Order: sequence, then structure tokens, then C-alpha cells
Amino acid sequence: MEIKGGAMEEQEHKRRVRYSGTHPKEFQEKYKEHSPEKYADDVEKIIKSGKTPAGMHRSICVNEILDFLQIVPGQTGLDATLGYGGHTLEILKRLDSRGKLYAIDVDSLELPRTRERLENLGYGSDILKIKQMNFSEIDRIALEAGSLDFVLADLGVSSMQIDNPERGFSFKKDGPLDLRLNPLKGESAADRLKTVSQEELAGVFTENADEPHAFEIARAIISVRDKGIEIATTTQLKHIVANALMFLPMKDRDDEVKKACQRCFQALRIDVNSEFEVLHEFLEKLPDVLAPGGRIAILSFHSGEDRLVKKSFKRFLSEGIYREISPEPIRPTHEECSSNSRARSAKLRWAIKA
Ligand SMILES: C[S@@+](CC[C@H](N)C(=O)[O-])C[C@H]1O[C@@H](n2cnc3c(N)ncnc32)[C@H](O)[C@@H]1O
Repeated sequence: MEIKGGAMEEQEHKRRVRYSGTHPKEFQEKYKEHSPEKYADDVEKIIKSGKTPAGMHRSICVNEILDFLQIVPGQTGLDATLGYGGHTLEILKRLDSRGKLYAIDVDSLELPRTRERLENLGYGSDILKIKQMNFSEIDRIALEAGSLDFVLADLGVSSMQIDNPERGFSFKKDGPLDLRLNPLKGESAADRLKTVSQEELAGVFTENADEPHAFEIARAIISVRDKGIEIATTTQLKHIVANALMFLPMKDRDDEVKKACQRCFQALRIDVNSEFEVLHEFLEKLPDVLAPGGRIAILSFHSGEDRLVKKSFKRFLSEGIYREISPEPIRPTHEECSSNSRARSAKLRWAIKA
């Protein structure tokens, strides 16, 4: 299989693609899904079929989260991962125009869209304060807001990020190998692959995603780089992973390549966004920003994240800083998992400040 080299051509500013057919396949062409307010019936049909419309995110464990947070009008809280704003909207309904909700996200592309959507629903800065920032800086919110009555974090990536090929989160679509939650800051995955050593890369795949073929895949990536070829796109990386696993028996290969791609893309995403480090910082700062009796709910989608949350909650419980924590993670209902496959790996944990 040939790996194409060369830097990505500079992208010209393009108008949104006008699609004239009836069954658009590409993300940008799905004009109805990008305008749910105009095509509500079509979007509803897509959701009922178990899919997530393009440019949208379906919030997970909404009832379980709201049941636990017990939000009442007049409270001050934080949604640490605004995303599409689905959880934020439900929280705002509970606040019933009284109190204050801070909502933050690192994503510089999606945040303005979500802000506009929520503003159009009548939620202005009197009740909703949206800021583009990392939740590792949660102490900055508390400086402005005072102690918080509740905090929600719905970790990982949104469907808008995964589905948009220009963000490079999915090996299923060709796009630049970026993988940054905030594409205006830090190093893209493509840039990371230009300098990382083979040993470190194998470590990234093993530690962040338990990749059983970490060594072979890291070796293949570095050998392509050593030929002077820049690994700039999602498709290039997918082909390198496939080449690295040619030694597997034919009957298992396609399935194994798909799983390895999923794991390697996830591992690189965790790495370029320092996801474990910022989660650790957030968890450490949480007790100081919560009011006595303040409630925190964290939804995670990765065993490494869930382990960090569990460990932190247990430690603060044993130190008497939290008064109670969820004894076991709460899982989405069977109905939710069958209507939204992205809910399947979700685990919800909660804690209450003493
Ligand atoms: C699963 S989505 C949240 C979806 C949202 N709860 C909703 O209902 O639409 C996760 C979001 O968290 C954001 N995110 C991930 N890590 C973050 C961090 N360290 N600080 C702030 N936002 C972060 C991502 O950019 C993404 O928009």
C-alpha cells in the first residue's frame, strides 16, 4: 500500500457545499442536519433511527445527572464541558431564570455556535456565562463566581468534533491529522508525529489505549517518517496501521485494523490534549471550588479517565473532604444505549462535598 507524502496544501476558504441530491453522505453536505431548527422533522427521524445528526451532539445520562445534582433556582454552578449545550440547557431549565450557570469549553470552533444557539433560546449573560477555557483552570471560575453549588463534567469529545473530518478525530473520514480540542492552540497530532521517538510513541499507544500492537505500529510510523514522508492525514495514518498489522491472519485482519485505528487515534487525542493531566488538575482543584454540600457529577468514556475520577473521589472521601461518593459507577439505561451507541461506554460518578 502506498503512503502519500508531502505537506497538506494550504486550505482555501470554501463556501459551505451546496448539495443538490437527496441523500448527502459527506458531513458538510448534510445541510438539513446542520439546520435542525429548520428541518426538525428530518432531524427527529435521524435521532429515532439511533444516529446522531451531523453537527449535533446527543447528551448522555441527562436524567441520571439531573436526579443527582438536585439543582434548584438561585444556585450557582458550572458545566465544565459545554459541547453542544444539551446538559447546559437542561440545567438552565432547572434554574428557572434564577441563579447563575458558568459553562466552559476549550473548543474555539464549536463554542461560538453553541453560544449563539443558547442565546437564540433566550439565555443571555444575565444567567449564562460562557467562557472558552480549559477545566484545569476551574479555580479561575470560582474566583469570579464564588463557591459552586454544582459542577458537571462530561469528558471526552462531542459528536460535532468526531464527525467533522476537518478536525481529524476519526480514521473513517479523510482529513488533516489534527485531533486538537482547540485547533488554535498547541501541537496537532501530525506535528507531534514529526518529533516523537519510537519508544515514546509506543508508550502513548500502550498507556492511553492499551494497544496490544503498540510496538509494531510505532515502528511502522517512525519508519515512514524516516523515509522523509510527512504523516499529515487521517487516511495516511490508517494505512500505516493497516501495513503494520499485515502479519495478522487474514480472517481477523480487517477487524483488528479497525480496532487498532480506534485505539491509536484515541491515544493520540489523549496525548495532544494532555487529557489525563488536565483531568488530574481539575480533580485536585474541585474541593476548593465547591460550597459545603456542593455536588459534582463526572461522566467518563475511557477506563483511564474513570480510574482517575474514582481514585480522586475515594481519596477525598477518606480525608473527610467529600461526605459521600457514588459507590459504583452509574451506567446509561439499556434503552439509551440502544438508541445512542455513543452512550455504551459511559460511566457516571458523583461526589458530595462535606
Ligand atoms: C462529550 S462533549 C460534552 C457534551 C455536552 N455535555 C452536551 O450535552 O452537549 C465534551 C466536551 O468537552 C470539551 N472538553 C474536553 N476536555 C476539556 C477540557 N479540559 N476543558 C474544557 N472543555 C473540555 C470538548 O471540547 C467537548 O466539547
